[in-house]
Amino acid sequence: SLVDKANYRHFMAKEIHEQPEVVGHTLARYIDMASERVMLPVKLPFDFKDIQRISITACGTASYAGYVAKYWFERLARIPVELDVASEFRYREAPLRKGDLAIFISQSGETADTLAALRYAKAEGVHTLSVVNVPTSTIARESETVLQTLAGPEIGVASTKAFTCQLMVLASLAVAAGKARGELSDEDETKLVHGLVEIPRLMAAALTLEPQIEKLARDISKSKDVLYLGRGTSYPLALEGALKLKEISYIHAEGYAAGELKHGPIALIDETMPVVVIAPYDRVFEKTVSNMQEVAARGGNIILMTDAKGAAEATVDSLVTIVLPDMASAFTPMVYAVPVQLLAYHTAVVMGTDVDQPRNLAKSVTVE
Ligand code: G6P
Repeated sequence: SLVDKANYRHFMAKEIHEQPEVVGHTLARYIDMASERVMLPVKLPFDFKDIQRISITACGTASYAGYVAKYWFERLARIPVELDVASEFRYREAPLRKGDLAIFISQSGETADTLAALRYAKAEGVHTLSVVNVPTSTIARESETVLQTLAGPEIGVASTKAFTCQLMVLASLAVAAGKARGELSDEDETKLVHGLVEIPRLMAAALTLEPQIEKLARDISKSKDVLYLGRGTSYPLALEGALKLKEISYIHAEGYAAGELKHGPIALIDETMPVVVIAPYDRVFEKTVSNMQEVAARGGNIILMTDAKGAAEATVDSLVTIVLPDMASAFTPMVYAVPVQLLAYHTAVVMGTDVDQPRNLAKSVTVE
């Protein structure tokens, strides 16, 4: 059944491995394969043409899905996006324009801060749309529009498959928004849809890197601190990588925008601090390589997650490279999430922590 561990040692491992399947189910709900168009399962009560600004609010891992989506909405649909963690949004009295759109992302649909943020937005007269995994949840019930992720029950406290399914829904929605606003042509849409359709297969390919990552985790487990760097959509993924590692292995980790390295974290770099660099060969790749060179020059040990092209171009010392499949699309975070999750998971296993029930954490935080 969906809620036993099958042959896995932990729910988290099972949920990581389920991702090609559940992301595929989610894809099938949002994309019409025959026409190669995005087809939302519900009719939106607004027109994206009328939306001047989107606000995205969530907690924890869901907020990093929102952060990735900010890049997509801005790039594909040219809509400015404001992103907040719910505990800040609910009290900062953000001015919202009537008729604009507020998006809430939550696996459980019960997170207290996210629910309070939703209620605030409703009272301000904006359209509310939630991306939730539990369709009977409070957040789903109280939202004007619900887009469901089809991740199935997620048991591991540290979110994995819910995150990548959230990304799939948000990517589809960003394409729909770009189309509605005339920012994307039919041809652009077809190309983007092809990119989305590829994702489950690419995630499955990424899972085959597990033996290499398991070995790397043994080194990571000896560290006191780990730095994660990325640019563009890989930046929020760096934040997610650091969160995953600290949540379940209790090793201190920080995620940083690669370009901010010189404004602080570079002071920490020495031979004892691994630096995980997430850098698919995309439009900002070259910039990230120069940040890697800064790390290497200071004796830092780099673990580079990239593709074959990136691996060939990254001329840096003391480098371990995790080579992911080449992908042309803007949707790399769904695929790169896999090695990021596996690295945290295997490090926690080496450390002997309670992977599915990490100390002090709860799956669903229903109190403030
Ligand atoms: C808790 C969980 C996280 C999750 C966050 C938001 O902190 O441990 O894994 O990302 O809540 O939960 P939600 O259900 O709103 O996505």
